[in-house]
Amino acid sequence: MKMGFLGNGKLARVLGAAFQRAGHEVRFGARDPSSPSATTDHPAIEAGAKVCAIDNAAAFGDVVVLAINPWTEIEGVLRSFRHRLEGKVLVDPSNDIDFSSRPVLASSERSLGQRVQQWAPSARVVKTLNFIPTNLMVDPTAQGIVPAMMWVAGDDANAKRVTSDLLRDLGWSEVIDLGGIERSRFQESIGLIVSRVVTDLLRAAH
Ligand SMILES: NC(=O)c1ccc[n+]([C@@H]2O[C@H](COP(=O)([O-])OP(=O)(O)OC[C@H]3O[C@@H](n4cnc5c(N)ncnc54)[C@H](OP(=O)(O)O)[C@@H]3O)[C@@H](O)[C@H]2O)c1
Repeated sequence: MKMGFLGNGKLARVLGAAFQRAGHEVRFGARDPSSPSATTDHPAIEAGAKVCAIDNAAAFGDVVVLAINPWTEIEGVLRSFRHRLEGKVLVDPSNDIDFSSRPVLASSERSLGQRVQQWAPSARVVKTLNFIPTNLMVDPTAQGIVPAMMWVAGDDANAKRVTSDLLRDLGWSEVIDLGGIERSRFQESIGLIVSRVVTDLLRAAH
């Protein structure tokens, strides 16, 4: 399958390398694809993936992965490139956590997944993977996650099937369909709990 990443940071590199290993064709969308840092420490590039402009990565992918950080930049990026996302599966692993003091969800109203769907209305958004660190996203059983169970939420049944197959390629043997995109908030709340635990552990260690 052709996969495009919006972003070329940590999550894109780890997930992209795993998808490339699984036999998918991967393009990473970077703001400055000609910069040396866009291709260094990038295992997927060594395996044949390419870095290109964000516009090209969005156009390339049948499945597009949202890999933008901070979350406050997501709306602008989606509004700029949403014309490239029509009908495409848009995998959303993002979190809207405010880390300025103890982590909290930045919006108390709608889930970020719902807002992503609103900002890219012609895409078929599927929320998943947002609540675990990138190194655990790939090859979960080797990382000790048993059972390897992951959740998806989204309004399009076929997009969730495509995403579930991709998750199985990463080693998630059981994929649970939580329902519509509004159920993203459940996964985002788990992401908040994980962030708080990690933050508290790091503070306790210092
Ligand atoms: N890292 C994790 O363990 C983890 C776990 C779960 C979920 N996530 C989610 O995954 C997403 C990506 O996280 P990450 O760790 O990969 O972040 P990251 O390493 O900081 O990478 C962020 C990427 O976003 C790009 N970016 C930022 N603002 C942009 C803009 N205005 N236009 C275009 N590109 C822009 C950056 O481009 P430049 O390189 O040009 O700055 C970079 O490629 C986030 O939503 C995060 O919540 C991450």
